[in-house]
Amino acid sequence: MQFDLNFVKTIIAGFPHDLRRHSCNVCYLAVRLAEYIGCTYEQLKTLTVGALLHDIGKSCIDENILNKPGKLSDYEFSIVKQHTVWGAKMLDQFKESQEILPIILYHHERWDGKGYEGLCGQEIPELASIVTIADAFDAMTSSRPYQKPKTLTDALKELNNNKGTQFSPELVEKFELCILELAKRPYHTSINKFMGQLINKFG
Ligand SMILES: [Fe+2]
Repeated sequence: MQFDLNFVKTIIAGFPHDLRRHSCNVCYLAVRLAEYIGCTYEQLKTLTVGALLHDIGKSCIDENILNKPGKLSDYEFSIVKQHTVWGAKMLDQFKESQEILPIILYHHERWDGKGYEGLCGQEIPELASIVTIADAFDAMTSSRPYQKPKTLTDALKELNNNKGTQFSPELVEKFELCILELAKRPYHTSINKFMGQLINKFG
């Protein structure tokens, strides 16, 4: 079995709708930021697959927990936190997936070291830090059962308020410039169209 974008497309087609949409949005935003800061073609290719599959471990979690309105219990949160490790274990069997494992495993790290695995600052792989910002931005600006979406201005404010603690300060600054450019055109493109563009570019 070849671990290429067509295979990834098949995997994410099996995700629940919200997870599929989130994964594509995160991928779109992460790739745009990575292009903006000058990542190489190989990095963009790795990031594309890593971002699309960053939350694959959530497919092991009961949707009642994932979509629970309100605060999770300590036990439920401990289950959700396992999705990075579960995701990495699911993909570890594929020889071609090794480069994306750090993205899956470290996308919930924090710049101050208080994230899931305790990496901090530059210890966190840059592609994972890019996904962290794209992930947070999409989560804040999307409608969820338990929250109204934030406006673009409020979401950028939140990223800025948490740069240096939760997020890489440099990447937040670059993301803000990049997203203000993107805001001039809609990014919620259809999933099939977006996957088609990615396969043409990286497949
Ligand atoms: Fe996640």
